[in-house]
Amino acid sequence: MQRAADRIDTGKSPFIAAYECRGTWSESMSEAVSTGRSVLITGGNRGIGLAIAESFLANGDKVAVTYRSETDLPEGILGVKADVTDEASIDAAFKVVEEAHGPVEVLVANAGITKDTLLLRMSENDFTSVLDTNLTGAFRVIKRASKGMIRLRKGRVVLISSVSGLYGAPGQINYSASKAGMVGIARSLTRELGSRGITANVVAPGFINTDMTAELPEETQKSYLANVPAGRFAEASEVADVVRWVASDEAAYISGAVIPVDGGLGMGH
Ligand SMILES: NC(=O)c1ccc[n+]([C@@H]2O[C@H](COP(=O)([O-])OP(=O)(O)OC[C@H]3O[C@@H](n4cnc5c(N)ncnc54)[C@H](OP(=O)(O)O)[C@@H]3O)[C@@H](O)[C@H]2O)c1
Repeated sequence: MQRAADRIDTGKSPFIAAYECRGTWSESMSEAVSTGRSVLITGGNRGIGLAIAESFLANGDKVAVTYRSETDLPEGILGVKADVTDEASIDAAFKVVEEAHGPVEVLVANAGITKDTLLLRMSENDFTSVLDTNLTGAFRVIKRASKGMIRLRKGRVVLISSVSGLYGAPGQINYSASKAGMVGIARSLTRELGSRGITANVVAPGFINTDMTAELPEETQKSYLANVPAGRFAEASEVADVVRWVASDEAAYISGAVIPVDGGLGMGH
């Protein structure tokens, strides 16, 4: 009986050759170049989003970020005004980016807010407004970006979640729910669009030094630090480099994953 390796005599492993026969893996790999791409990061005017933008810029990509108010961006980064809670403003921002850089090939859904308070004090608006920005906002931009990615038959979607999403945190029922929901988006998206050269992954930062965490009381910061095995908080660039990598060709076979950048805080949660 003929073995699979004999049937496909390409000098490659039967596994790779079989994929090449199907025409999906080889097309997405040979056409993909992880530089010079049109990259869009929501909420990229400061904090983790800006660090991600700078990392892609250094990689030679064409980088655009959304911002809500006036902003002073480093040279080389295109700023487009958009509020992720407003579909029309997202569409307008995408049109500007597409005109300047071409269809978005890498989308980083980063824009996020917190409204921390304990359950009994959390109003329904505290809950729904965080969900609307963090989760529905991600849905809105991913849906808009996916049209171009499907046409291109390639794309990278990275959702910026949080260790709170799977680990939980007191006072963050709204925020954790929004961040856990991102895992569902990435995994369902992977199952819907994985065969089109599109990957969707979640990056889950722990405690990163940004405006968002600077707002926390010193006591809260100390108690978080006590639980981080690495014994320190991280800089935004440490998240940014992981995002850039998971959006690269090297990570073409990773999709639906949750990648922690948390100094060991969550450990698989
Ligand atoms: N810092 C951490 O330790 C940490 C840990 C885990 C996860 N994260 C996540 O990482 C992401 C970035 O966090 P960060 O610490 O860099 O936060 P940040 O400094 O507070 O920045 C948040 C960004 O989101 C934007 N944004 C908020 N609401 C928006 C809306 N409705 N439409 C468009 N943009 C909006 C902000 O724009 P404006 O400047 O216009 O307000 C800003 O650019 C968030 O999703 C956050 O949940 C952060």
